[in-house]
Amino acid sequence: MYQIPGSTPPAPRNSVPPSLFGAELPLRLSERPAAATLPPLPEPEPMDSVAPDATRDETYTPRRSSLPATALRERPASMRGVVGSSSTLVDVFAIVDRVADTDCTVLITGESGTGKELVARAVHGQSPRRDGPFAAVNCGAIPEALLESELFGHTRGAFTGAHQAKPGRIALAERGTLFLDEIGELSLALQVKLLRVLQSREYSPVGDTRVLKADVRVVAATNIDLERAVAEGRFRQDLYYRLNVIMLHVPELKRRASDIPELVEHFMATAREKTGRQIAHISRAAMQLLCEYTWPGNVRELENTIERAVLLCAGDRIEPSDLPVRVRGLGTPGRNSPKLPESGIDLRAAVESYENDLIRQALDRTGWNKNRAAHLLKLNRTTLVEMMKRKRIAPRAA
Ligand SMILES: Nc1ncnc2c1ncn2[C@@H]1O[C@H](COP(=O)(O)OP(=O)(O)OP(=O)(O)O)[C@@H](O)[C@H]1O
Ligand SMILES: [Mg+2]
Repeated sequence: MYQIPGSTPPAPRNSVPPSLFGAELPLRLSERPAAATLPPLPEPEPMDSVAPDATRDETYTPRRSSLPATALRERPASMRGVVGSSSTLVDVFAIVDRVADTDCTVLITGESGTGKELVARAVHGQSPRRDGPFAAVNCGAIPEALLESELFGHTRGAFTGAHQAKPGRIALAERGTLFLDEIGELSLALQVKLLRVLQSREYSPVGDTRVLKADVRVVAATNIDLERAVAEGRFRQDLYYRLNVIMLHVPELKRRASDIPELVEHFMATAREKTGRQIAHISRAAMQLLCEYTWPGNVRELENTIERAVLLCAGDRIEPSDLPVRVRGLGTPGRNSPKLPESGIDLRAAVESYENDLIRQALDRTGWNKNRAAHLLKLNRTTLVEMMKRKRIAPRAA
């Protein structure tokens, strides 16, 4: 079994996984706990191509990714629908690539709307099971009474209304991938049954005494803190460890703001196709607002915002007035000022994480050119190099 980070503090989110099987491998690409609660802080500058003094007259011009070509080449084919080239996302691609051709269970964590299901589909699409089915079950959306038969199937007459035998999602995922979304919502009783599937690949449909064999690869996703759910007795620890063989963390959009322009262009293209409205441009000022907003609903919120803007746009270019009030920042003075969480904050870890994030953004934006990154950060090159060394900030291994 691979190294499970367990409750030890996670590695810095941008750290490079040197080898999947190495004991030192930081498989969990999560934030430091303190950083996760760090309120949004102002970026030093928005994107290069969205200058702070952008006027309403200017149209945003897409710029080429600053990501080294090697990193782009490394993106697995199945991840090509996953837009973005920030270093945190590229780290996710690399892990997907490495784990896809194994049968190991993958636990995908991340806030709502970050793209967990997209990543789960990529794991399937990249695996030898890609020609088999991808069967998804949203454990949070199905009432508990129905979820058992939804997962395991049932025999005829197993319960009132069961007029016919019905296969469950496990059977439907045979030779493919079973995607268990919102796994944290599973009841304790069903957790036991799922554990049996993971441990011995065995299960019984509701009302059936037979023991069936499951040939499925399980990928689960959650937007809740499962470690805390375990500590509070809401989630079985043994199941948590079974699921958490490989943990993939999909970072919040505000932590990878450099992906926003690319996502905006992608969603403009899909919205054009969906709505038939030929809106091909966006003003620099509108793009700047999109890059500065903190996106609590993550990529899903951005997707909806762009679709709405394409529909509302009166001319041929999206303008700030086509964006919702919350994105324009009206009525929310000081939205970028840090707010101290109720529970307090580990100041040093928060500042450290903030610093690391900005250094990475500067390096990403300049294609890891230290001179230019130092210039963006108003540091001497040697100071930046020292900081990178101390903080162990390095590009992904080619
Ligand atoms: N990197 C991305 N590139 C393109 N589209 C994306 C990306 N990330 C997310 N999306 C889109 O955003 C929407 C939300 O993504 P998805 O359903 O995968 O998120 P999720 O993390 O599973 O959300 P939830 O926790 O609410 O279930 C989808 O329409 C998805 O296609
Ligand atoms: Mg989902």
